[in-house]
Amino acid sequence: MNHPITSRGSWRLCDGSYKHGILCIRTLAIGSPTHLVSSPRELLVTTALPYANGPLHLGHLLESIQADIWVRSLRLAGHRVSFVCADDAHGTPIMLKAASEGIQPEKLIESMQTAHEEDLGRFAISFDHYHSTHSPENRALVHKFYRDLEQGGHLLTRTIRQMYDPKIRLFLPDRYIRGTCPRCGAADQYGDSCEICGASYDPSDLVDPRSTLTGLPPEARETEHVFVKLENFRDVLLTFVHEGALDRGVRRKLDEWLDTGLRDWDITRDAPYFGFEIPGRKQFFYVWLDAPIGYLASFEHLARTRSDLDFDHYLKPGSPTELYHFIGKDIIYFHGLFWPALLAAAGFRLPTSLWVHGFLTVEGQKMSKSRGTFLTASEFAAAFPPEALRYYFALKLGAGVEDIDLSLDDLIHRFNGDLVGKLVNLAARSAPFLRHGASGRLAANLPEPALYESFRAQRATIVAAYEAREYASALRMILDLADRANQYFAGSTPWKLEQSDPERARAIATQTLNHFRLLIGYLKPVLPDLAHRVESWLDSPVTGWSELDTPLLDRSVAPYTPLLTRLTTRTGRPLSNPPSPPAEDPHVSEPKEMIDIDLFSRLDLRVARILSAERVDGSQKLIRLKISLGTEERTVFAGIQAHYAPEDLVGRLTVVVANLAPRKMRFGTSEAMVLAANDGATGPFLLAPDSGAEAGMVVR
Ligand code: 2FM
Ligand code: ZN
Repeated sequence: MNHPITSRGSWRLCDGSYKHGILCIRTLAIGSPTHLVSSPRELLVTTALPYANGPLHLGHLLESIQADIWVRSLRLAGHRVSFVCADDAHGTPIMLKAASEGIQPEKLIESMQTAHEEDLGRFAISFDHYHSTHSPENRALVHKFYRDLEQGGHLLTRTIRQMYDPKIRLFLPDRYIRGTCPRCGAADQYGDSCEICGASYDPSDLVDPRSTLTGLPPEARETEHVFVKLENFRDVLLTFVHEGALDRGVRRKLDEWLDTGLRDWDITRDAPYFGFEIPGRKQFFYVWLDAPIGYLASFEHLARTRSDLDFDHYLKPGSPTELYHFIGKDIIYFHGLFWPALLAAAGFRLPTSLWVHGFLTVEGQKMSKSRGTFLTASEFAAAFPPEALRYYFALKLGAGVEDIDLSLDDLIHRFNGDLVGKLVNLAARSAPFLRHGASGRLAANLPEPALYESFRAQRATIVAAYEAREYASALRMILDLADRANQYFAGSTPWKLEQSDPERARAIATQTLNHFRLLIGYLKPVLPDLAHRVESWLDSPVTGWSELDTPLLDRSVAPYTPLLTRLTTRTGRPLSNPPSPPAEDPHVSEPKEMIDIDLFSRLDLRVARILSAERVDGSQKLIRLKISLGTEERTVFAGIQAHYAPEDLVGRLTVVVANLAPRKMRFGTSEAMVLAANDGATGPFLLAPDSGAEAGMVVR
């Protein structure tokens, strides 16, 4: 049987692809206007449907965030993307959970869907619609698929022996039976597939099976089930696998399964079951039949509310639109074999591709409640800003199926170092120079237009990396540019010019703020909320990449207010151990004896400018600072690593005790003391004078 495979849209943003980790741009003239969209692509993008029997966790978010970054980057390129999902509302686990809570399954799935949508909103996942598989649209579509399968001669009935737990009088779903994999011999595997070798099989094939509900060996009972004859679709599947746009690893996996033979697929479940009834039988459709059909139900619902979307246009065979499913590597079989077969049987187009990701581990471990590495979306959001997770996942994501590890310390380190230290710092440090005698106005010209142009010219490569799902590469390029922007700012020393040449200082700040705006624009798919805050601050919305081409000049900018808050280990404490009491620090808590003004005046407190800062090898706490007291320079060791990255500090003013006797330390001599606020748990927070102060000024 032949079935047309929809080709990718005739128009492509650019022909960027990755070979051996190197981005190849074949037809794109970088910096030329060829990137502009002449005819936008139309895409339908989905993420796998979360089960409605539990909260979303970080594994779900890995996929949602990966897909959302892709969708947002394509939208910024001017393409029309419909991004849909739904709750996967059927199956025995949901029925059992509702029963254990003494409520109807309908009630459970309703409250789960609300909770899921709230979580997805917190993490800025920009679905156009979020539906449920327990919906009228899905029921109608499932019936159509079943009818078409039947009329196409693709169904057969067969009496099978099905695992039954006599104690609770339930035919056991695959996941409620565990045993030894019949293919590779791995112990304690689920009844439907093996996590070790990826084999998909019938639970009755398991060696030494047990009911996970009672621990008893299940009985085999006879029951008649309906099967899809998957072998009927071999030609369709071969074409899909070999001529479609699948990644090589996914193709290889599917090929393996095609080679080992396509087994008939059981789409029936016996009562009691929460799902759709099979017409004419007192049985139900297996949840995995109606789940992927839920993609279409969700899109159908969306299309009905939008005059510019037509369901048939997207789903008909030969459609010029593109269809992508983001999935985890554990469900390739369902999406790469069953789903294309179903679509073909029902006369729909096939997916353009499956974008498959690996698993998430937390602190190097499989997510597990007992190890404290199972984190729900709402637990994470209560402890950290959701954009920290978006950023961290993007840093780690490429197009491959490698597993990804989340380390909370690393997340804090990267958020503080990259986003606060390298990026937002550009704005925090440069914006004040606009206000000096210039009432917050940007200069009329960039002092270094070629430098800005070189930043702008990187866009094509960054956009291509997003499209290739090579987010880690995109972010590396953006961070390299941020380093260059910081070097430009630090090397231009506007603080030295503030009094003597405020116009020049303003021009440097204008250049730096434009670098900042461009880089935040490049990060918009990853950090839409931060980008939005910056756009509001600068009063310049960005809805397409090309809006970043023109620098902002000769216009007022509102005073800077902090855009991100540095994370501390305390921020994330609810996720790990219970909070330990704040460290005892007599300097913090105990009142000191009274001193008189003479004693106080013996302190030489001065404003100091930090000229350079570097971590001290072998110390977790210390940063070596070179400071200027106006007329002299000193070296100071400050125990402030917990809260500051060295690159945050260069150029800042702070306050020091200038007449503290030099102290010999293991790493060198400290020639003054930097003042910082500290409560023993958060901070330390450097003291800094208001703008207008200069290095060397006396503090009284
Ligand atoms: O594995 C899962 O979590 C399923 N609920 C995914 C379904 S994806 C699609 F087919 F609906
Ligand atoms: Zn196995």
